[in-house]
Amino acid sequence: MASSSHITSLPLLFLLSITYLALTVQSGETRPMNNSISAMYVFGDSTVDPGNNNYILTISKANWYPYGKDFINHTATGRFTNGKLATDLIALYIGIKEFLPAYLDPNICLQDMMSGVSFASASSGYDPITAALNNVIHVPKQLDYFKSLKAKLEQSIGKERTEEHIKKALFLISAGTNDFIINYYGGVPYRRNSMSVLEFQNLVLDQAKKLYQGLWDEGARRIAVIGLPPMGCVPAVMTLDSLKREGCDEDRNAVARAYNAMLQKELISMQNKLATNGAKIMYFDIYNSLTSIIQNYTKYGYDKWDTGCCGTGLIETSVLCNPSSILCPDASKYVFFDSVHPSQKACQDIVEILIPTINSIITD
Ligand SMILES: *[C@@H]1O[C@H](CO)[C@@H](O)[C@H](O)[C@H]1NC(C)=O
Ligand SMILES: *[C@@H]1O[C@H](CO)[C@@H](O)[C@H](O)[C@H]1NC(C)=O
Ligand SMILES: *[C@@H]1O[C@H](CO)[C@@H](O)[C@H](O)[C@H]1NC(C)=O
Repeated sequence: MASSSHITSLPLLFLLSITYLALTVQSGETRPMNNSISAMYVFGDSTVDPGNNNYILTISKANWYPYGKDFINHTATGRFTNGKLATDLIALYIGIKEFLPAYLDPNICLQDMMSGVSFASASSGYDPITAALNNVIHVPKQLDYFKSLKAKLEQSIGKERTEEHIKKALFLISAGTNDFIINYYGGVPYRRNSMSVLEFQNLVLDQAKKLYQGLWDEGARRIAVIGLPPMGCVPAVMTLDSLKREGCDEDRNAVARAYNAMLQKELISMQNKLATNGAKIMYFDIYNSLTSIIQNYTKYGYDKWDTGCCGTGLIETSVLCNPSSILCPDASKYVFFDSVHPSQKACQDIVEILIPTINSIITD
């Protein structure tokens, strides 16, 4: 893709970019549900980070083999999986583009910013302390990055067109798991010393609301919020919680379900209070979609769900999953690629289950 960071002074590049966009993106009639989504902007953690952490000082990275071994050109991009992320697959389904690049990638051009990028940062969460534990990009900073992108668009295409563009964009947020797994229940139980689970769930939800409201204030009108997954069924969590590993940790799952119930109530309330003229603030149910895949894993074509493909699959993620790790021969036979993150095949299955919800948010 044409690359330039000096976009503000290059109207010609912009015209070329728009032509390119028109040629490569499916026209309205061939897009699912005839949607007119203009772009996708993504916020959150490693589940949706395409490599922003490559450009910051943190150990929370995945830009080496075997990560990306089934991605385009077999490239390790920083995605914490063997191939594409669920958000890449959603962008492709909607008809926007092949995959969503990282906002911090110095090679992204105006056209990339126009059609969508991800601001997400692996190991991040809604509670700023979660991001601080691994020196990654906290959620308020991700919102600031979006504001800078918006300013760049305004300089290039004007305020009015930028507003129209943002109104028609899909915003997606996937975060929260690290707040519980790394921060509250993790090795340095900072918040657990001073808060009950319920108090912490409320703190996380308050921070989450600030992001959703912040996006709304910037003009976002289609906001998809991914809830918490069945955290107790994540292979590394099962290993750390009980070395006997007798199935999912139901206590952790109960915490996720309770938080998801609070989150859904909040999203319905925001929808009722704010959203008019077709605006949509929607909950995407990762909990039940992933649970259904895990419970019926053989029906979905997997051999294993309770260990990852990389290494022993019990504990390895990020630096512990590396070129010297033993690897399963076929990642698509595993629900999890490393001990924390779904394989590309699982991302495909999750997106497939979410299609009715996706269709609902991309149409009027
Ligand atoms: C999409 O638009 C075409 C042409 O206007 C129409 O024939 C078709 O029924 C539409 N499909 C949906 C799913 O709305
Ligand atoms: C894959 O490799 C080709 C040829 O080198 C290159 O043009 C293309 O940009 C690469 N794609 C990605 C996503 O890296
Ligand atoms: C998966 O399992 C759950 C319960 O075990 C069941 O309710 C659901 O219908 C199953 N889904 C599929 C696709 O088989």
